[in-house]
Amino acid sequence: MIRKIMEYDCWFQCRVGVPLAPCAQLLSSVGLLEQSSILENAAAELSALLTKNFAVLSLRAEGKDTGTLIGTIPGLKARLGLELPPTKPDGFVIKVSDTRIIIAGQDEAGALYGVYRFFALLSLGKISAKTEIIDAPATPFRSLTHWDNISGDVVRGYAGKSLFYKNGRVDYDKQRLIDYARLLASIGINRLAIGGISGSGAGQALITEPMLPDVARLADLFRPFGVKLLLNVKFSAPYALGKLPTADPLNPAVAAWWKERADLIYRYIPDLAGFVVKADSEMEPGPFDYGRNHAEGANVLAAALAPHGGEVVWRCFVYNCAQDWRDQSIDRARSAYDIFKSLDGTFADNVLLQIKSGPYDFQVLEPVSPLFGALNKTRYTLELQVTQEYTGQQIDLCYLPYNWEQILGFDTRYGPRSTLRELLIDGKMSGVGAIPNVGLDHNWTGHTLAQANLYGYGRLCWDPSLSAELIAREWSALTFADASVADTVSELLLRSYPAYEKYNAPFGVCFMVTPAEHYGPNIEGYEFSPWGTYHRADRFAIGIDRTDSGTGYVSQYAPENATLFGDPATCPEQLILFFHRLRYNYVMHNGKTLLQNIYNTHFDGYDEVQQMLELWKRLKDQLDEHTYSSVLARFERQLANAREWRDQINTYFWRKTGIADDKGRKIYE
Ligand code: GCU
Repeated sequence: MIRKIMEYDCWFQCRVGVPLAPCAQLLSSVGLLEQSSILENAAAELSALLTKNFAVLSLRAEGKDTGTLIGTIPGLKARLGLELPPTKPDGFVIKVSDTRIIIAGQDEAGALYGVYRFFALLSLGKISAKTEIIDAPATPFRSLTHWDNISGDVVRGYAGKSLFYKNGRVDYDKQRLIDYARLLASIGINRLAIGGISGSGAGQALITEPMLPDVARLADLFRPFGVKLLLNVKFSAPYALGKLPTADPLNPAVAAWWKERADLIYRYIPDLAGFVVKADSEMEPGPFDYGRNHAEGANVLAAALAPHGGEVVWRCFVYNCAQDWRDQSIDRARSAYDIFKSLDGTFADNVLLQIKSGPYDFQVLEPVSPLFGALNKTRYTLELQVTQEYTGQQIDLCYLPYNWEQILGFDTRYGPRSTLRELLIDGKMSGVGAIPNVGLDHNWTGHTLAQANLYGYGRLCWDPSLSAELIAREWSALTFADASVADTVSELLLRSYPAYEKYNAPFGVCFMVTPAEHYGPNIEGYEFSPWGTYHRADRFAIGIDRTDSGTGYVSQYAPENATLFGDPATCPEQLILFFHRLRYNYVMHNGKTLLQNIYNTHFDGYDEVQQMLELWKRLKDQLDEHTYSSVLARFERQLANAREWRDQINTYFWRKTGIADDKGRKIYE
């Protein structure tokens, strides 16, 4: 029998038929002894999900301690004398015995996360009579930042209009937001920034009194799911909203304005998590406008938030976007390190610097930013992009955890335990943030299989040591009941990123995309522009020399990495054109020239997509018509895109060099 995928329900698919033994009886009552909005929600969620997805009539039984019992570890000890092993904040214990199932959080949120994990494991058929799990997130700050404009458009959104706004107003489908909150909580996300990228449009308006009640209502919706709001704000607010002539962070009137504004905001949303700021970036106002540095800029907001327990998430995406492309002395990749490293130790305790994973901008293949591990006295977070701006815009299948696993595995070489994963687990890095991939499309993410990216993001924030493969298998099994379908889908996910890499800009050279839109190839699209992202291909060579004889970027890394990247012989070849300017006849490890490798990867990348399409077609009789054909349509568009990339890239280099493909494959003149 074909079970229809309810794409709206994401990883909460109907599981009627999955055996519930050994605990069917215990699931018919969900007991709760403590009271709090999150705990009550946890109990309500479990009963509703069991009823809906397993057809178990599961009653919430307040004040009862039988069946499935939900609570906090301290609460259950106080009330029932239960001794459960303590875990970390937001963590939980799940314990199944003959007489009871206990889902106990270290705190209320932990209990909620325990409920969702229990439910996922139940759906996967992985709960047994002896299940005993202790689990906790690696990091306390697990956030998503929406780039939605108040017009209802989503900046870099590929899944329809905004979930929050319409026509200049906060306007939403309440049930939809509750369902979104469930999705977020079920993967452990606990912070949600709204207000539009850099606080433009929406953000400006949201911190004014006419709109604060709307924000408060949004906070109310997300609160029972353990998700706290952050607001994207604009640095210019003191003059744009206030009556001040300046936003100079060292001006006492500016400091007073921010304090007053924060006090006002917290009257409406007492548990606001804080602000997100994009300053001095891509034409945004910032402290540089007043000759101040970024610590001075961030600290004035931090001081206003501190009395309320709020934090400032300050983005390190700061660079000169008005560069003269002829000036080869400027290297945009250096920017974040050059600006922020010397300020280490000067930021207030409630500032979190949010560092993009790479020095450029969420490229398909770029190195990890040298700023990670280099800050010792400043709290910082890793910024990722779940929305697929440069990775196929949710038309192409591109499973991002594959890339995130590599990013997390990057060893900064600053002392022992210095991979990003370890920095996160050991608390030296304070969290993770990302831009989500959701919108009002019925399936949330445009491409149904792009749901795996949202799921994978949350799972990796929770446990950065999970492998991309394990997450792909888990997501596929939760979404597609049939095991053989799930296997094929995981295979597709795992093949997708390497395939995308192959048909995109070669070997870490970055930015060969269509300007502004960022889908599809335009080899010289950014070449003669002010944005600072050049490949500088000529007849003989391509790439930028970022060694010490070039821009010196490589020396921003710890010495071992500087040495590794600094020599083309040891530099990972995937990234070789990010670090080096090479002649087309440079011989790579496989004995072929750089040019021939460019040709080969592009032919291979297209072939890979063709194979992925064929693999999907084999699922035709095992899937419902809608799921099958909607994904098929995306694969067909992806194939056209891969062909475009292959042909544009290969033609470009053939024209530049006049050197033919050694296999004589078709390259257009
Ligand atoms: C990219 C993206 C922009 C966005 C920016 C950011 O440059 O194209 O739309 O503003 O990232 O991270 O703020």
